[in-house]
Amino acid sequence: MINTQTIVREPFNAQSLRAQFPILSRTVHGSVPLVYLDNAATSQKPLAVINAIAEYYKHSNANVHRGGHAVGAEATALYEDARSVVAGFIGAQQNEIVFTKGTTEGINLVASSWATMMGSSLRGRSIVITEMEHHANIVPWQMVCERTGASLRVIRVNEDGTLDLEHAKTLIDETVSFVSIVHVSNTLGVTNDVRVLCSMARDAGAFSLVDGAQSIVHQPINVKDIGCDFFVFSGHKLYAPTGIGVLYGRADVLEKMPPYQGGGAMITSVTFEHTSYNDAPIRFEAGTPNMEGAIGLAAAIRWFSTLDRSLVCEHEHALSLRMISDLKSIDGMRLLGPGVEHAGIASFVIEGVHAQDLGILLDEQGVAIRTGHHCTMPLMRRFGVTSTARASIAAYTTDQDLDAFSTALLRTVRMLR
Ligand code: ALA
Repeated sequence: MINTQTIVREPFNAQSLRAQFPILSRTVHGSVPLVYLDNAATSQKPLAVINAIAEYYKHSNANVHRGGHAVGAEATALYEDARSVVAGFIGAQQNEIVFTKGTTEGINLVASSWATMMGSSLRGRSIVITEMEHHANIVPWQMVCERTGASLRVIRVNEDGTLDLEHAKTLIDETVSFVSIVHVSNTLGVTNDVRVLCSMARDAGAFSLVDGAQSIVHQPINVKDIGCDFFVFSGHKLYAPTGIGVLYGRADVLEKMPPYQGGGAMITSVTFEHTSYNDAPIRFEAGTPNMEGAIGLAAAIRWFSTLDRSLVCEHEHALSLRMISDLKSIDGMRLLGPGVEHAGIASFVIEGVHAQDLGILLDEQGVAIRTGHHCTMPLMRRFGVTSTARASIAAYTTDQDLDAFSTALLRTVRMLR
């Protein structure tokens, strides 16, 4: 018999989600309600995460992979469970997940260890990045180039904010050894076609890394589907604590890479004459790791996974469209990346108004945004600006937040002109 019952999907209720984020109901500057639109810098944390961290310290705190006592075993189990939660979240295997401090450390780890693995073969070779990279995906590669004699190639960004894929095709040739690209730009909010870029890298015989710092929270990620060798992200943009991040590395590649740092846990035996190293991923986690961070990250992923991701994406997409359309109605407003779909991030300048002044005056009205170069100085130069104002949303952002942003923005622009 055919079931004629219609399944009605409840719309996503961002307002009710907010009750789980205590900070969102605080005020600033006395009694001004906080309107938090700086989510690309860091997201707020739900009670599920705050409580998981408190529980860990109240009941299970001990060092991991060390003493054989009961609490130590419990802490180790929680830490390794966090690794498996992360692996499941991005379609990886547990042995492909290295815990790091964050995206920046993940990229530095890969750049340093991969370059050591490649050795003198890198002389005369090229590394490809894009013009829209965060400094964290520029400087480590410049350091590799200085060390090895490789050279950096940069894929251009078009005026509309998209990546020039024709230029990418000409740059990613047989001289290229590594392609390192951002998934969602922290400044433009544009989503790059990382599957295509990783496939170009593969065809050229090069390794690939995707910087997922901004994409991890705005779209489901499957690293095998993307086809990258490495994928990095930070916990703190994913409703998790700061100081914890993830490096995904393809098992067969990680296995060949030398350690990044030396210390406890990353070894199997040490004598003064010779040290043998542990297997990946532990080989890359020297010293006492951030247990609290890993457990908090697992709690964040578990919490996030209770939400209907497709509804969250729809909600964020609708808010992004509205934010862009509100901005476009302002006289003299210039949006960076005017021709792209913005993944919850909008960077803009307003004629006659300094971005920093705008940020200060919006803050006085309770609206928290980021102003500055967003650690993307080359991209700022590409668009002929030194700084922009940037508003960014999260799952808990509401239309009321955007109403407050719009009102404060219009009032401030009138005041400054
Ligand atoms: N990379 C973070 C940002 O874009 C801090 O704000």
